[in-house]
Amino acid sequence: MKAPIVSPSLLSANFNELAKDIEMINQSKADWFHLDIMDGVFVPNISFGFPVVAHINKLAKKPLDVHLMIVEPDRYIKDFKSVGADYLTVHYEACTHLHRTVQAIKAEGMKAGVSLNPHTPVSVLEDIVGELDLVLLMSVNPGFGGQKYIENTYKKIKQLKALSKDINPDLYIEVDGGVDNTNAQKLVDAGANALVAGSYVFKSDNPTNTIAKLKTLQF
Ligand code: DX5
Ligand code: ZN
Repeated sequence: MKAPIVSPSLLSANFNELAKDIEMINQSKADWFHLDIMDGVFVPNISFGFPVVAHINKLAKKPLDVHLMIVEPDRYIKDFKSVGADYLTVHYEACTHLHRTVQAIKAEGMKAGVSLNPHTPVSVLEDIVGELDLVLLMSVNPGFGGQKYIENTYKKIKQLKALSKDINPDLYIEVDGGVDNTNAQKLVDAGANALVAGSYVFKSDNPTNTIAKLKTLQF
């Protein structure tokens, strides 16, 4: 039995005391730091950019799982490598030449991820899933923390698991948006092996315990 990867999203952290929240994650059972990069074009929100990621990277003792919600991500692949990204995930909907983008991420020595919006079917990944390290299924419309989980995601996880199990059994199937104690077990049962959690972790009374609770799930 294995526990899922837990990747707390710093979007819901306290930016007045970011170093404190980073250290909390360092000391917790979390596996990765999930960093949401928004450009105000691909999504209707702007988050943070290179200087903040570089600062986080200085303090973080675990891999940076960077989720790009930006148009033309190819322009910034090298920059994200230089500020410390370990996993770099681009949106399918933002890439005309997705195969080229994935190769460029790998050529920089990073793990390559592709994210799908809630309306994008899993089948579009059929001819690239064998080349990916991670697929990030959005279970809310990207742009904001604290939104309600979309139930249709369970079906997509199962479809992705079926699509990848022979060709890429080590694929990370990551779910992002509205993850909490009401759906986490069901997500893992459906085939998710990596969970992003923002508000569930940071708005809880004891974020360290909330992370530990997610790490008790098994698949
Ligand atoms: C939303 C981001 C998420 C967000 C998740 O666009 O991709 O990573 O931080 O936040 P919660 O867990 O609160 O839905
Ligand atoms: Zn995210």
